[in-house]
Amino acid sequence: MSLEKTFAMIKPDAVAGNNAGKILARIEAEGFRIVALKKHQMTKAEAEGFYAEHAARGFFPALVSYMISGPIYVMVLEREDAVAHWRLVMGATDPAKADAGTIRKEFGQSIEANAAHGSAVPADAAREVTYFFSQSDLI
Ligand code: RTP
Ligand code: MG
Repeated sequence: MSLEKTFAMIKPDAVAGNNAGKILARIEAEGFRIVALKKHQMTKAEAEGFYAEHAARGFFPALVSYMISGPIYVMVLEREDAVAHWRLVMGATDPAKADAGTIRKEFGQSIEANAAHGSAVPADAAREVTYFFSQSDLI
């Protein structure tokens, strides 16, 4: 078994709702080590670049405006099987369909304002970490 890193965000709805601390506590309880963490507000260009894979989707403009509507927390998390485990802890994209006990079920407002982000696969994690952090931030 080897340690893996993933990239995670606490999204604007969860920060505005004062749920960031509860989500960070859950992250620690799940055995993740927080390798890097910062509060950040994305520019429009940053959000468009981050979600470039969804540029052709109908929900893209709304997603970008939501993601720049307020500050977020961006972080790098480490544990065994970090990418898959964080996706499991977050739950389904739509909070209404997410399993009980998941972050999106507990804190998500809608399919868009769904409290958290997690990289889908390790290659995405590597790209997303680099999008917000430099090597010297990872401690
Ligand atoms: P994420 O990338 O944020 O971890 O979420 P995900 O993989 O579960 O979902 P994805 O399909 O990658 O979509 C990215 C984000 O776009 C918003 N979304 N809105 N209105 C809609 O139908 C819709 N679908 C997706 C959500 O904020 C989703 O997390
Ligand atoms: Mg995704």
